[in-house]
Amino acid sequence: MTYSFQRLRPWLEQLCSEAFQKAYPELGKIQPEVTLATKEAFGHFQCNEAMKLAKFLKCAPVTIANKVLSHLPKEYFSTIEVAGAGFINFTLSQAFLEESLLHLPSLLTPGSLVEKFQRVIVDYSSPNTAKDMHVGHLRSTIIGDCLAKVYAFLGHEVIKLNHIGDWGTAFGMLIAYIQENNLQDQGDIENLTLLYQKSRARFDEDEDFKSQSRKNVVLLQAGDPKIIKIWENICEASRRAFNKIYSLLDVSIEERGESFYNPFLADVVSDLENKGLVTISDGAKCVFHDNFPIPLMIQKSDGGYSYDTTDIAAMRYRVECDRADKIIIVTDAGQSLHFKLVAATALAANYLSSEKIFTHVGFGLVLDSQGKKFKTRSGESIKLADLLLTAVNKAMAILLERNPQISPEEAQKKAQILGINAVKYADLSCHRISDYVFSFDKMLRFEGNTATFILYAYVRIQGIKRRLQLDKLSSKGRLILKASAEQALAFKLLCFPDVLLKVAEELFPHLLTDYLYDLAEKFNIFFRDCHIEGSEYQESRLHLCLLTEQILSVGMSLLGLRTLDTL
Ligand code: ARG
Repeated sequence: MTYSFQRLRPWLEQLCSEAFQKAYPELGKIQPEVTLATKEAFGHFQCNEAMKLAKFLKCAPVTIANKVLSHLPKEYFSTIEVAGAGFINFTLSQAFLEESLLHLPSLLTPGSLVEKFQRVIVDYSSPNTAKDMHVGHLRSTIIGDCLAKVYAFLGHEVIKLNHIGDWGTAFGMLIAYIQENNLQDQGDIENLTLLYQKSRARFDEDEDFKSQSRKNVVLLQAGDPKIIKIWENICEASRRAFNKIYSLLDVSIEERGESFYNPFLADVVSDLENKGLVTISDGAKCVFHDNFPIPLMIQKSDGGYSYDTTDIAAMRYRVECDRADKIIIVTDAGQSLHFKLVAATALAANYLSSEKIFTHVGFGLVLDSQGKKFKTRSGESIKLADLLLTAVNKAMAILLERNPQISPEEAQKKAQILGINAVKYADLSCHRISDYVFSFDKMLRFEGNTATFILYAYVRIQGIKRRLQLDKLSSKGRLILKASAEQALAFKLLCFPDVLLKVAEELFPHLLTDYLYDLAEKFNIFFRDCHIEGSEYQESRLHLCLLTEQILSVGMSLLGLRTLDTL
């Protein structure tokens, strides 16, 4: 028996497609859908296509299913049967699972699951200069980094861009304040939030200050060297604050802020005008689209450009100069209308040749335990560095409680990993579109759908290696998967390629966390039910441990989680 498949589900769909065609040639070539069985008792997969075709074929679904069944190959399955109203249920055979698992490692090398590689831009994190990064930027950073890693693992060329809000009218007033108070270098402007508040106050109270601010904006956009120097100082101070967070999160992104597109803004506006897309509304240049309540405003009445203009210019640049095949922008779902307008405009201007190129990956809010927007008790927004360090400190307390003998260095090292893992995983594991409730206690648990629970399965495998004094597990042992816990684990392992491709297709990281959670549970059941050391199946079971270790490790790294050998 040879199996030439990469992904289980499409392979099975192909078998079904052929069987349907043989059973009902009048259907032509159809693409029946195969899904995971809704209950484990039903087997591994099911096909419900007979139900969908009953009306068309004027025939009972059970009859259709049985006829199709007679055309399906049987050698891959331990059972393949028609159940209920006309479902076809598939249970893969032990021999199939054993042999297929041997092919799995070759699918785990980066780039082996996809035939055509693309250049993919992921625009994420993207905080604003001179403001604190907030929890929304934290979500963007965590989700964007995971998606970028998944795409890179699949073999695509990924360009990670930090579209920092480093341009715009706010800088006029920040610069006016710095000039007024003769602040010298980045050290002087370290406290950017305060600087922002103070300059805002001056802007609101003083007409001269206001007009100086406006002048500064013009000078900044025209590239006046003195003004640019001050602007650079502000950016540098901000960058230092952002980098602290990126280093805690172990994330690296290429900075390409809004200012990068400044030289292209005027041309984009005139190009849109030449294409007849621009309407003047209240003195501002706007692009209107049917079915949208508001236009995209590409130039304000005072001649200034906006966030909208930069995003259109970015879209054009990324297609024309970066030659991106796919553009993903990760922000809070509140910006979804903005990106719909940007996409509609970019399509109308032919910057995007198809709507498939661009996807806005939106996400929900972070809430506190009362269901309100996440803030500190005094109502200010939370400082992200504090939040991350609190997670680390809480992880440390848990470690010390579990093991009072642990050395301070080791506790520190582990707490760092467990704390940051917990924050990332909690974010990634909820459906990104929903709001989620931030809870240190919940995210740091060792049980349930948490980072540590998954890491624990990995640590158990390291424990087995230590007990057997093995540096590495070997893949030499022939796989003999008799026990149901072994088969359930094997099947789960084989589903990994499907899951990765689905994450890339649907851009939902929780599909990967759900998978790993289930995998860790299946491994724990195997570990409980199947004796390893000294068993007659020791070699086969160690091989299964090796594959689990590999998938846990790839999966965790794609989520941006780090591993430990002990807990
Ligand atoms: N700086 C923006 C914010 O804080 C996010 C930018 C996202 N990227 C983009 N190309 N618009 O909301």
